[in-house]
Amino acid sequence: MATRLILFGPPGAGKGTQARRLVESLGIPQISTGDILRQAKAEGTPMGQKAAGYMNAGKLVPDEVVVGIVEERLEKDDAQGGWILDGFPRTLPQAEALDAMLGRRGEAIDRVLSLEVPDEPIVARLSGRRSCPECKAGYHVTFDPPAKEGICNECGATLIQRDDDRPEAIRERLKTFHDQTAPLEQYYENKGLLARVDGEGGIDEVTRRIQSALGG
Ligand code: AP5
Repeated sequence: MATRLILFGPPGAGKGTQARRLVESLGIPQISTGDILRQAKAEGTPMGQKAAGYMNAGKLVPDEVVVGIVEERLEKDDAQGGWILDGFPRTLPQAEALDAMLGRRGEAIDRVLSLEVPDEPIVARLSGRRSCPECKAGYHVTFDPPAKEGICNECGATLIQRDDDRPEAIRERLKTFHDQTAPLEQYYENKGLLARVDGEGGIDEVTRRIQSALGG
């Protein structure tokens, strides 16, 4: 049975961390608009160049750009048996575009998992985050450190700090989330799809809460 999940929540809530675990347990791909945009930015494609200014400032990339990315990604073979959307949708027009896209494909969202974390721990999580530019594994200098400082456990690449994990950009991303993205919680609640999950506590603890929200 296909599983179509949305991981929803503020920056630093643990969407990427938990999505990577769900990929392992459910065998479906993670589709992260943030990762796709960062890849395009690193490659210097026209889309990446356009997105870079918005991303570095903590603002949302225009809806038509991300909707196009997701539409293209959902066509790929590995997405036919389900997926985990991480970081999309983030605005009402994006949510409506997703509904229209899925309607055309005869598909539907199974669950929207909302990871709830207050602003204060988020600043500590994001300022200590380190990411692998090669295999996309994620770490935290204190809460989830790699075995060897600064080196990815999975592929041995040198870990980097994201451009938007600077204090000013973190503040702007939180503001953007509260102003433009948080209202989507109500949208999915009204559709009976929302499951709220406490995103505070250890990473394993949050994974267990997600499993129980998914009925596992
Ligand atoms: P995106 O990459 O989606 O960033 P985000 O939503 O801000 O989310 P993050 O990746 O920062 O956090 P996360 O929830 O995945 O947390 P993580 O698991 O890494 O988007 C970046 C930018 O791209 C946007 O600002 C925008 O410009 C653009 N963009 C993307 N999608 C868009 C869209 N749909 N529309 C428009 N623009 C879009 O965890 C964070 C840290 O905390 C890690 O170090 C981790 O190890 C640690 N951690 C995780 N869980 C725990 C825990 N339980 N306890 C302690 N530490 C933890």
